[in-house]
Amino acid sequence: MKILVTGAAGFIGSHTAERCKEIGHEVIGVDNFSPYYDISLKKLNAKTLLNKGIEVIKLDLRTDNLINKLPTDVDYIIHFSAHPGISDASTFEDYLSNNIIATQQLLNWALSLSKRPYFINIATSSIYGLEATLSEKEAPLPASWYGITKLAAEQLVLSYTRRKIIKGTSLRLFSVYGPRERPDKLYTRLIDCGLNTKVFPLYEGSEKHLRSFTYVQDIVDGIVSVLGKEDKCNGEIFNLGTEEENTTAKGIETVEEILGVKIEMKLNPARLGDQSRTKANITKAREVLNYNPTTSLKKGIEEQVNWFKNNFISDN
Ligand SMILES: NC(=O)c1ccc[n+]([C@@H]2O[C@H](COP(=O)([O-])OP(=O)(O)OC[C@H]3O[C@@H](n4cnc5c(N)ncnc54)[C@H](O)[C@@H]3O)[C@@H](O)[C@H]2O)c1
Repeated sequence: MKILVTGAAGFIGSHTAERCKEIGHEVIGVDNFSPYYDISLKKLNAKTLLNKGIEVIKLDLRTDNLINKLPTDVDYIIHFSAHPGISDASTFEDYLSNNIIATQQLLNWALSLSKRPYFINIATSSIYGLEATLSEKEAPLPASWYGITKLAAEQLVLSYTRRKIIKGTSLRLFSVYGPRERPDKLYTRLIDCGLNTKVFPLYEGSEKHLRSFTYVQDIVDGIVSVLGKEDKCNGEIFNLGTEEENTTAKGIETVEEILGVKIEMKLNPARLGDQSRTKANITKAREVLNYNPTTSLKKGIEEQVNWFKNNFISDN
């Protein structure tokens, strides 16, 4: 099968592109190498993919004309590209254009093809709001521009499935970490601070937050389990993440234990819209996709520490 992965130079998209290739698919990536974080990290991911036979085409899904730039014979789209996270430096326009407009542009392109690809939309637990513990059937209550625009993007995709003009699925991912994690996220920042003796900016109260911290390869397992199950999954939403809950304090303690250092913390004001709890309810994914995430927090962070040392610590 031929798979188009958007956001392929990013954290989760790059791992998914690699896995799809490993299990025998032809993979083409798309990414605009957005400056949301250091683009050298995205270039590094794209280079790694190229070495494995996956080209990442530089395209902005918001503004570029996709016709004639993308292959017309793709079987699946896995749509990761987005303006992610909660950041004071981001405007509403950033979330609106990258999350909603870009998704609509991609749908327009998919609809223009004579053989329409199956559309796997990557959504987020932020759709649920401050306490992300619900099943897929319950009403989402997003509390951030990120959550609102990702919910709109998801519903755009699903509206086309309800009208039966495209087939597709939306996957809501929970608190993903592991090698290549974005530099604005918890574990990459903690590891950087621990290894480079920097002060970690801790958002007030965040140490008590509960999270379904889910190892990236466990997330990829869930994503690729949709391939070949189109009929069962069409029009459906699935939560993907671990059922195990850990506090952010436990995450910090685990990083400190693995690195053998105490990380200095500086309190910063709490972030508006930050979730107090994420706990993936994966009953449906277990039943339909046989989804079963197994990586322990300690094992996953060890992998992330190794990745960080191999890529960013010069004497390794
Ligand atoms: N990281 C998490 O914990 C997490 C949790 C839940 C959901 N998600 C979702 O997973 C997806 C990937 O997240 P990530 O953490 O890998 O982020 P990421 O920023 O590393 O990856 C997103 C990629 O999309 C690209 N992109 C952004 N706007 C684009 C545009 N207009 N055109 C083309 N490419 C564009 C970026 O350059 C980036 O490489 C997102 O949809 C995010 O909402 C992530």
